[in-house]
Amino acid sequence: MQIFGVDIGGSGIKGAPVDLDRGDLAQERFKVLTPHPATPDGVADGVRQVIENFGWTGPVGLTFPGVVTGGSTIRTAANVDKGWIDTDARALFSERLGGLPVTVVNDADAAGVAEVAFGAGRDRRGTVILLTFGTGIGSAVFVDGVLVPNTELGHLELHGHDAETRASSKAKEDGDLTWEHWAHRVQKYLAHVEMLFSPELFIIGGGVSRKSEKFLHFIDGIKAEVVPAQLQNNAGIVGAAMRAAESR
Ligand code: BGC
Repeated sequence: MQIFGVDIGGSGIKGAPVDLDRGDLAQERFKVLTPHPATPDGVADGVRQVIENFGWTGPVGLTFPGVVTGGSTIRTAANVDKGWIDTDARALFSERLGGLPVTVVNDADAAGVAEVAFGAGRDRRGTVILLTFGTGIGSAVFVDGVLVPNTELGHLELHGHDAETRASSKAKEDGDLTWEHWAHRVQKYLAHVEMLFSPELFIIGGGVSRKSEKFLHFIDGIKAEVVPAQLQNNAGIVGAAMRAAESR
């Protein structure tokens, strides 16, 4: 079975039909730039362009970088236009897509769902936590493969700061930090999350997962195994389609 997956990110809106049996894209993905400011209206237009590019007429799963309840309602918008808060995103996208059935899910939850089914979290029991390091820090918490949605561990307070403002990859860029310096912050953050949840496994996702050889060796003192995500760029697209399939 195929469902269309769309990943709404800070720089691009990317999508493709997803082959749910293989957990992979069924066709090469298509991307448009995310409008700035990333208002509901502008993003919905971008999503429409991506879907029209494939002439898709079936169900669609979308990611969103904030809390999403009931597969539809946006509750927070830390790094996107505040106009999203309390938007019924399912209604917005469905209307813009000519009535196609739509499911919306938090971006880190989507990446985690894909990674647990097809990547680094496959066949892992116990508590598994995927953390995405990008503009913000996203989290997806699983217990025996079952997701606890909208955990928002990126906003834990660490040394008096919102953790993502210190340890996201944007914080690394903005502060011009070396990999070692940044990894030190990530280690403190992981130690804090470990103190709260004692997971068996941390999966490090987001763009940095492709560069794990630059920083993972600087991270020590964490009892859980720490591994890079395997699906990398396509995890959000695949996971959004998987959640859309589950909600049908
Ligand atoms: C948001 C999360 C999101 C993460 C990664 C955070 O600022 O609050 O919902 O998953 O960024 O995009």
